[in-house]
Amino acid sequence: MGLKIFTTDDKSEELLLRQHAEPVQFPLSAQAKALIREMKIKAIELGGVGLAAPQVGVSLQIIVIHIDSFSASIRKNAHTVPLTVLINPEYDPEPGAKLFEDWEGCFSVCDLMGKPKRHDRIRYRGYNEAGERIEDTAVGFFARVLQHEIDHIRGTLMVDRLDEGSVRGPRAKMMEQRLAELSDEQRRMWEERFR
Ligand code: NI
Repeated sequence: MGLKIFTTDDKSEELLLRQHAEPVQFPLSAQAKALIREMKIKAIELGGVGLAAPQVGVSLQIIVIHIDSFSASIRKNAHTVPLTVLINPEYDPEPGAKLFEDWEGCFSVCDLMGKPKRHDRIRYRGYNEAGERIEDTAVGFFARVLQHEIDHIRGTLMVDRLDEGSVRGPRAKMMEQRLAELSDEQRRMWEERFR
């Protein structure tokens, strides 16, 4: 059975999306392992760059990140990231980190895209599926994706990161603008992908 995506279009689903998710206990329960397996499948199926457990209606601190070569190639300052699970994740901006704007959408926030401000350099921590502690620095687009997904764990959505001056609007209109910002090479890849 595939997982269903919770969205802010539904009031009861929004309540769950707005909760601060619960930490996961180790060793992982059979239930947690099954959820992670399903989340990986869903993340690939959706074709995005990340997925957080609250988005599939489970208020637990689990995120999945996957930046494939296409996603990396249409972004600035991006590299690929293999399918990665991070449990009980946290982040802090690195000293001297700057805020930068770039396109974001969210499967849980329908018909809205925008350019929220994110830190360009963060320190992130968490655990892998084996319960081993992970701590590292992330920059650029990878840092953006981590901030977006870890925000989900805290009940914060990308709309909350848009301020007065931020670019934002309905998906179709924003997609036009986004396409116009791509280089010829990037646009060619985009058209190939979505043709
Ligand atoms: Ni999201």
